[in-house]
Amino acid sequence: MSPQAGSTPSSEPFSPIRWQDGTLYLLDQTLLPAEETWIRCDTTDLVADAIYRLAVRGAPAIGVAAGYGLVVGLQEEPSGEDLAQRFGAVSAQLRATRPTAVNLAWALDRGQGVFERAQAQDLGPQEVIQRLLKWAEQLHRDDIATNLEIGKNGATLFAEGDRVLTHCNAGTLATAGYGTAIGVIQSSWEEGKVGQVWVDETRPLLQGARLTAWELKRLGIPFRVVTDSSAGALMSRGMVDRIVVGADRIAANGDAANKIGTYTVAVLAHRHDIPFYVAAPLSTIDLGTATGDDIPIEEREAAEITRVLGTTIAPDGADALNLAFDVTPAELITAIITEKGVLKAPFGDSIHRAFESSRKERRLTPRAQES
Ligand code: MRU
Repeated sequence: MSPQAGSTPSSEPFSPIRWQDGTLYLLDQTLLPAEETWIRCDTTDLVADAIYRLAVRGAPAIGVAAGYGLVVGLQEEPSGEDLAQRFGAVSAQLRATRPTAVNLAWALDRGQGVFERAQAQDLGPQEVIQRLLKWAEQLHRDDIATNLEIGKNGATLFAEGDRVLTHCNAGTLATAGYGTAIGVIQSSWEEGKVGQVWVDETRPLLQGARLTAWELKRLGIPFRVVTDSSAGALMSRGMVDRIVVGADRIAANGDAANKIGTYTVAVLAHRHDIPFYVAAPLSTIDLGTATGDDIPIEEREAAEITRVLGTTIAPDGADALNLAFDVTPAELITAIITEKGVLKAPFGDSIHRAFESSRKERRLTPRAQES
């Protein structure tokens, strides 16, 4: 497949991540929708930079990109320093790029397991790298399969003609393909259940106006972009039937971190008695994080707020606080839509059961790539 944007056949979900000619290509999301440019990432520095600058973004997408990033990092110096030392350095560099989305650490931890098992078998460096590549490709395919399940499960919650609001971008661009929240919208749309989507523009980096709108347009789903501050007005006028968003990390009690502004939407939804759904794979649920208070929240440069698309909009020297995410408490979430079904409160219990069912399934169908 050639890395030309728009060249993916419509029967397979478009993916912003490609492994081609022995290296990683990422669609540069900072340039969308004006330009569809692919970045050739053949060094760890390039992969880490792409994740940090949000050229690749969205929790599952950065997990998959980091998985391939481990391969890129080892390929850079396959016969240089001790391979295990090199693996540790590459993994640490990728891990340090973004703190909130747990899928990044999740993928790197799994990659480490694959690496250690391969080393324990005394494989040569090239064989270890091939083992890791196979695993990363499987991670890529699994994410798409997972999202298709999330979409199917989410569609059961929708009713004909629903007007749905979403915040940020939790679509194909934010994953290996198909998306989580947008996957739910697409599945529901295909069943005739979506009348229109309200797309929050999502300040400061405009993932809604630039990316979600780009995706919905490609899919032919009717949408209108609104300012983030329109959400309350739309809800009070009875113009929103349902809300579905993605997540960067969900704590064991169901508190969910997502793009800044999500919490505001959830509070408004509660005030107006509108269902508020979080769509995410189990890999976004971090059982090691007890509550939302324990989720590290990324703080980004002030300039992302004081400058808009290259133009300074605040007075010279104005400082800004740029929190990239906020936490929506579990009590404001109507349901968490996962590949293992629709989870309801009390989330501590339903999350636990979903992981149990996933563990049982894995015991029945072990993955050769991870062994
Ligand atoms: O800063 P971003 O663009 O990486 O933030 C992305 C989001 O907040 C998404 O909603 C989240 O990662 C879910 S993606 C399926």
